[in-house]
Amino acid sequence: MVGRDNKRMKLIFPIFAWSCMVISTPAWVADITACVACHNDKMVANPILDGQHAKYIEKQLHDLKKDLRVHAQMQGIAKTLDDKQIADISKSFANKKWANPNPKSNPAIQEEGKNLVRKGNCTRCHGSELEGTYNIPRLAGQRSQYLKTTLLQYKNKERNNFPPMSSMLNRYSEEEIGVMAEYIAGLAYQE
Ligand code: HEC
Ligand code: HEC
Repeated sequence: MVGRDNKRMKLIFPIFAWSCMVISTPAWVADITACVACHNDKMVANPILDGQHAKYIEKQLHDLKKDLRVHAQMQGIAKTLDDKQIADISKSFANKKWANPNPKSNPAIQEEGKNLVRKGNCTRCHGSELEGTYNIPRLAGQRSQYLKTTLLQYKNKERNNFPPMSSMLNRYSEEEIGVMAEYIAGLAYQE
């Protein structure tokens, strides 16, 4: 998949570079104004999308569109987007810089959170700094409130578009999930 995308980029890039000289906005830069109304650094309960990995954003939008992930507002929004818009929007967000807006968690949370993350071997998939890659989401510096909500939804199988995440969370209590969310939100990984 990655190789094919790279090859395609090689073909597309000369045309893309040329179009930049002609028009100021490259053709694939999507209009994300409507999204930014809810996905911004003031809406602390909503997930950060700036700097999230493109393939992960893309998968969530397709899953929401197909009702595989349930969130009434986002399902409605995803259904208005075609495949090309989804790909363009995902790339636009992925090309932005992650803002790291959260304060560092307190030392007690850091210690307990680190142990809980180790217990679940979360870094095996999400990367040593929980930075994610490709279709695996970045977690480091995501909003704590959102992380807690979505982790509880996995645990309760309300979010069921990736069942392995649900079975992994069986061994955590709600309180432990809260600690883990706060710890992960305070991680300030910078690419
Ligand atoms: C009315 C507010 C609102 C608008 C407008 C909105 N979103 Fe969302 N979005 C949310 C909320 C709330 C969630 C969290 C859903 C959940 O808890 O499962 C979300 C979740 C997402 C996710 C999943 C993120 C993750 O980390 O799993 C993606 C991707 C997303 N939105 C993309 C978009 C895009 C693209 C647009 C614009 C086309 C958009 N959203 C517009 C409120 C909004
Ligand atoms: C086997 C690999 C794997 C392991 C281990 C794993 N995850 Fe995940 N996780 C994923 C994948 C893949 C996704 C994206 C699911 C999808 O495509 O819908 C995900 C999604 C998530 C999300 C949703 C992020 C968002 O933006 O909505 C959170 C939060 C999360 N994982 C936290 C954790 C935590 C905490 C642990 C450790 C307890 C963990 N994961 C362990 C593979 C893994």
